[in-house]
Amino acid sequence: MKLFMDTGNIKDMEKLCDIGIIDGVTTNPTLLAKEESDPGDAIRRICELVDGPVSAEVVSDNAREMIAEGRALAQLDDRVVVKVPFSAEGLAATRELASSGIPVNETLVFSAAQALLTVEAGATYVSCFMGRLDDISVTSEDVVAEIVEALGPNREAQVLAASMRNPVHVVTAARLGCEVSTVPYKVLKQMLGHPLTEAGIAKFADDWKSRPEFGEWLHGLVEKSAAAKA
Ligand code: E4P
Repeated sequence: MKLFMDTGNIKDMEKLCDIGIIDGVTTNPTLLAKEESDPGDAIRRICELVDGPVSAEVVSDNAREMIAEGRALAQLDDRVVVKVPFSAEGLAATRELASSGIPVNETLVFSAAQALLTVEAGATYVSCFMGRLDDISVTSEDVVAEIVEALGPNREAQVLAASMRNPVHVVTAARLGCEVSTVPYKVLKQMLGHPLTEAGIAKFADDWKSRPEFGEWLHGLVEKSAAAKA
């Protein structure tokens, strides 16, 4: 499963991009509205930072304007995927954008029935919001499982698990066969950390330091290897 970062915050992105674990980014109007920067500048900068698709969302409620906004957003950068909220108008816009070669991420999908319509309209991604389902006491795991099953193994669209509130959501999405999960900075940090990993690293370092000659040996090995390469 690919991991996207769900953010409009450049600083957070810069902190994690260099690790090489981020395959793409999703933004939305709420995330971009939290930032000081101009949304166009933010989207362009995100496209520079990540080597993968970057979702940017339309905000109109009718197909004609969604199409115009989608085309304009797609011109910001080749990496832009136009995010279209699910609705009859959204599906019409999706059909038009997709048939002109602009990839679409259909967002706010909460059922397998909506996912089937999304695929029919030609979207590249079907975004199901797990956290928001759990918030209203609908088991997100069941809904995502139903979407994955309904779209089948040779599906034309990728199932993108969104609204990740914790690492368990991400693991569940992977177990169910989602192609992508889009994860906020806070949850990515939670996925990185584990007290046993931290304790284990500290113990290895202490044990190694208890034999100073081992440190010298490794240092010499590194120098020899670097000299051989030069
Ligand atoms: C997905 O693309 C959305 O930006 C996002 O996951 C929404 O999540 P939220 O429910 O945490 O706002």
